[in-house]
Amino acid sequence: MILETIRTEGLAALSYFLADTVEGVAAVIDPRRDVGVYLDLARAHGVRITDVFDTHVHADYLSGARELCTLTNAAVHVGPGAGLGFDAREHADGDLVRLGAFTLRVLHTPGHSPEHVSLVLSSGGHGAEGEWAVFTGDTLLNGEVGRPDLAESVDAEQGARQLFSSLRRLLALDDGLLVYPAHGHGSPCGGRIGVRDLTTIGYERVHNPLLSVEDEAEFTARLLAGLPPQPVYYARVKDLNTRGPGYLGTRPQVPWLDPRDFSEAIRHENAVVLDTREIEAWADAHVEGSLNIALRDAFPIWAGWMLAPRHDLYVILDSPDHERLVEEHLTRLGLEGVCGYLRGGMRAWVEAGLPIRSSHPMSVHDLRSALDAEDDLQLLDVRRDDEWQGGHLPRARHAFLGRLWQDLPGLSLDPERPLAVYCGSGYRSSMAASLLERQGFREVYNVLGSVTAWRAAGYPLEGQETEPARA
Ligand SMILES: [Fe+2]
Repeated sequence: MILETIRTEGLAALSYFLADTVEGVAAVIDPRRDVGVYLDLARAHGVRITDVFDTHVHADYLSGARELCTLTNAAVHVGPGAGLGFDAREHADGDLVRLGAFTLRVLHTPGHSPEHVSLVLSSGGHGAEGEWAVFTGDTLLNGEVGRPDLAESVDAEQGARQLFSSLRRLLALDDGLLVYPAHGHGSPCGGRIGVRDLTTIGYERVHNPLLSVEDEAEFTARLLAGLPPQPVYYARVKDLNTRGPGYLGTRPQVPWLDPRDFSEAIRHENAVVLDTREIEAWADAHVEGSLNIALRDAFPIWAGWMLAPRHDLYVILDSPDHERLVEEHLTRLGLEGVCGYLRGGMRAWVEAGLPIRSSHPMSVHDLRSALDAEDDLQLLDVRRDDEWQGGHLPRARHAFLGRLWQDLPGLSLDPERPLAVYCGSGYRSSMAASLLERQGFREVYNVLGSVTAWRAAGYPLEGQETEPARA
């Protein structure tokens, strides 16, 4: 028997490869869209992928169920009412699916989404005595529960009540059952997911703060009070997963463009220059109008917030070695518009004598002096609402980065006057600085180290300290 966890970094998504090597069959649970990893595992273990399960219609990444089905002829299994636009078997509560010597029992666990199912795994017989693991999707995570605000057909409160009942059903399982969730630490699908990927029903019963709440109304109130912001790309990704993501197969190689060709290509209306270099490198010298999303762990989540499928993306990398990773990250979110990479990177652009722009980094000390001097500097905080409420810099305005586009007009900032932007560490504010430059702000400063450095320097924050939200 093989049970392997496949972690997708950045999205903190967990999928599972389950195989009976004696009978030569395997199942994949919650596959990601680039399915090579599962095909490699099947090859390595000499098994055939016969079944693919999606515990629910995912909102945060594109499922690989359809791709696997196309490549292997595997059956796709989903929960009741999933309504997918391609061939998939919808299961009712209590259905049993055989996989070699294993049985997966379908447990309908709505709340995160109406069609959500958990899968209880047993070896040998079908009785509860043989059950030893449960794949809980986004219903139960390590130390956290799923968010109930993503479904379209039910509101968040209704979803929370459904989740309450679903979690009771999971708690009725044996304490010793291993819990395999669909997300680990770092996913926006849950605010406070623990750092270990694996947990048990018994451990969650004792240590998961929301599972100890026995009153449905209190559970609902607590869950709804601490939800992280809902990423704008979730609705789009969910819709694509419902219709069925297009077949990836082997796609044509994206061209590497010489600086002159790159500079020509980026002139057209839909073009977006995506600069994935580190924030200091971007600040030093960049292509006018480029969007800086540095290739760190959170890259795919921010790419989801900031980019749209309609964009023709022209990408600048720190190193050609990052090409594959950037493309994987974007593909998993359905952002397939990469049209070209800058050959030779930013150095080649500079050496070709093409125009560059610099954005000045600012230290917290210089910022403090400017604020004390009451000079003309405008200050913008782009952290989440709960971070802002936990204390912010004096004289700052606030707009969460994910909503900066929409909220910018209401902030009454003057594009002709200097503007300093900060976040928690300088990463998100670099994205904001690049967005603001695109919007015509003439002099934008990214506050390096941002609130982390401000606190470390012993400078005071304004505003009330409250408990941060579950994000
Ligand atoms: Fe989900």
